[in-house]
Amino acid sequence: MQNFIINSALDMHLHLRDDDMLKLVGPLTSNTFSGALIMPNLVPPITTKEALLGYKERIKEACKEDEFDAYVTLFFKNDYSYEFLEDIKDEIIAIKLYPAGITTNSETGVASMDVEVLRPTLESMSKLGIPLCIHGETNGFVMDREAEFMPIYESIAKAFPDLKIIMEHITTKEAIELLDKYDNLHATVTLHHLLITLDDVAGGMLNPHLFCKPIAKRPRDRKALLKAALKAHPKLMFGSDSAPHPKHKKESCGCAAGVFTSPIALQVLTQLFEEHNCLDNLNAFVSLNAQRVYNIHPKPKTIKLVKKDFVVPSIYKYKNENVVPMYAGETISWSIED
Ligand code: DOR
Ligand code: ZN
Repeated sequence: MQNFIINSALDMHLHLRDDDMLKLVGPLTSNTFSGALIMPNLVPPITTKEALLGYKERIKEACKEDEFDAYVTLFFKNDYSYEFLEDIKDEIIAIKLYPAGITTNSETGVASMDVEVLRPTLESMSKLGIPLCIHGETNGFVMDREAEFMPIYESIAKAFPDLKIIMEHITTKEAIELLDKYDNLHATVTLHHLLITLDDVAGGMLNPHLFCKPIAKRPRDRKALLKAALKAHPKLMFGSDSAPHPKHKKESCGCAAGVFTSPIALQVLTQLFEEHNCLDNLNAFVSLNAQRVYNIHPKPKTIKLVKKDFVVPSIYKYKNENVVPMYAGETISWSIED
């Protein structure tokens, strides 16, 4: 049977949530990935050392059966002091900036993306070598939000040439093109944005389980993203943005944004790279690029994928929590060997 080995897989954009949801979804990443960069948009968001260390402990407990590194992040604020950031630096991998209200639990994000307003924290981060992850969307027309954000990425990249900037979950051809214009710009891309366009979300019957922010875009965008991922563009990393929400919050009026992909990510990536004859580039895309960009050394962990049908569970449950994965109930052609 055809098989493929992935070494030390890294998911550089992951929502693990908290409490019972963390206990449910944590192991669905830690059982296959060697490490993951964890988003700070809890309720309330992580803005203090105490909250950060507490969250780290809860992640460790939830994922204790596995060898797994949780690379945690802090929620960006304009008024962090240099001393605070210096003190917390070794506990975090990056700081995540959300424009206020742009997505789930981002109400306390930044009200202005003006470089001068952001300067105090960005200057300290640049001096201390703390990378900046950005949710890059304006509050314009939903299909244009990311493209409209490109000048903002450019202004920050130019003003802080020593600051490592990661454009999170990019969804457009424009973002791919910008990647090569500035040395200090990098990006993550999700699995779902390599696979779907807006048609899959809303072209037929509405599929709430594919609704996310940024929304999936046009075929031209998906094509550009896929091309860059398949060749393992050296500045592009895999970040699932797997964002679980309880089933009742997805299948309801006022659907929460987020696609839950953790349990299928490595199988579907293998299927996708195999279909395009690019399996030789998969380890760079899911691990080596991130190791280089973030200068991290994940624990060795070997995952063997086999070309064997896997029926995706229709739901994952723990106590009162339940969450529907992408491709629920469907069959994919690669499995993880037991
Ligand atoms: O679809 C999304 N869900 N996009 C985000 O930026 C946040 C995430 C979440 O936390 O649910
Ligand atoms: Zn996210």
